[in-house]
Amino acid sequence: MSQSNVLEQVCLSQKFTVSYEYPVVFCRNAFDPTNETLANLINNKHESPCVLPIFDEQVSLLHPELKSDVSTYFSNIGVECLPCLVLEGGEGCKNNESLIDTLYAEVEMHKIDRHSYFLVIGGGALVDAVGFAAATAHRGIRLIRMPSTVLGQNDAGVGVKNAVNFHNRKNFVGTFAPPFAVVNDFTLLDTLTARDKRAGIAEAIKVALIKDATFFEELYATRHALANFEAKATEKMIIKCAKWHLDHIANGGDPFELGSARPLDFGHWSAHKLEQMTHNALRHGEAVAIGIALDTIYSALMQHISIEQADRVVELLLDLGFELNHPILLDLDIVKALDEFKEHLGGDLCITLLSDIGKGFEVNEIDDAEMLNAINQIKSI
Ligand SMILES: NC(=O)c1ccc[n+]([C@@H]2O[C@H](COP(=O)([O-])OP(=O)(O)OC[C@H]3O[C@@H](n4cnc5c(N)ncnc54)[C@H](O)[C@@H]3O)[C@@H](O)[C@H]2O)c1
Ligand SMILES: [Zn+2]
Repeated sequence: MSQSNVLEQVCLSQKFTVSYEYPVVFCRNAFDPTNETLANLINNKHESPCVLPIFDEQVSLLHPELKSDVSTYFSNIGVECLPCLVLEGGEGCKNNESLIDTLYAEVEMHKIDRHSYFLVIGGGALVDAVGFAAATAHRGIRLIRMPSTVLGQNDAGVGVKNAVNFHNRKNFVGTFAPPFAVVNDFTLLDTLTARDKRAGIAEAIKVALIKDATFFEELYATRHALANFEAKATEKMIIKCAKWHLDHIANGGDPFELGSARPLDFGHWSAHKLEQMTHNALRHGEAVAIGIALDTIYSALMQHISIEQADRVVELLLDLGFELNHPILLDLDIVKALDEFKEHLGGDLCITLLSDIGKGFEVNEIDDAEMLNAINQIKSI
């Protein structure tokens, strides 16, 4: 009897659970020798790790004392601190392929292993790019993020994603990789331009609109303090926004975004396109503010919320100083932008709209004519 070379179907099953936990600490002056935040995070009792500090060029320029403070801090706690690396920040760094090469070269040169740390201090863009290099070098080097922008601290720096751009496509290459820790040092924010202080507030409005009416009311009530970047209101807004982002990742049922729904991307389908169309002249947060206005007005046009509710959202954005009526809006190709967003999501088109202030819901279709109407309404603001 000849043995068949066709195997009967064999199907083994593999199942395991990995739980993740990482601290997101809010503090001031993280490198003051008396501040134990970082010392407590880096457990060096049984290992001899090293730390590679990576600075956003702007942070390094505007906080000239920081590089020596960082090395003194780590030498005080007996952790080897490698020479600081200063890299270009801003969206350009996510377009710069050589930046990832530079980081891999550092790993190789200093023999940085999976028990050692990248410590990135910079805006959301640099945090994203360094996060990608950290996640892929040796299949994962520990990453401590110290976001230095409002948007970095309340959104980009606290989650599980990282990415770089490719062929002019935003976040085309990236991974899901939780950080080792996040340290949000409010003192870093002092040197931000008004634009960058403002831009990050858009993500707080976004999360309030889809999740938390009380938070929206707080933002509305403190809008003048926020517009003046008063520390108390700003810090409260950052902590609450970061908390909602963390809550969504932990309890939203899809931390690694395997489905198509992406509620935290409210207002982002157009924002991504507007950023690209302006060659990043618009900051991410500024584009998100326009995207929020657009999808809020569209929600009202589709009668999911009232005109008065939409007006309040627009009023909040304007009072904060966002420019909604940007000339580039006229060139927005709705169909193309939605199509690219669908590709970015994978699967069905899924757009978050508002059914109330504090309540997002998903739709799978957009009425192009009504969306054009929404654009025209913004044009007349
Ligand atoms: N991974 C995620 O989940 C996630 C979420 C949201 C946004 N993002 C990404 O975050 C990026 C936007 O981040 P951003 O808004 O922080 O902008 P950014 O990183 O582009 O920074 C804006 C500017 O501020 C400078 N800067 C940084 N810190 C500074 C400081 N303390 N003082 C003075 N200048 C400083 C930067 O050099 C840059 O020129 C986008 O690329 C976006 O895609 C990622
Ligand atoms: Zn965003």
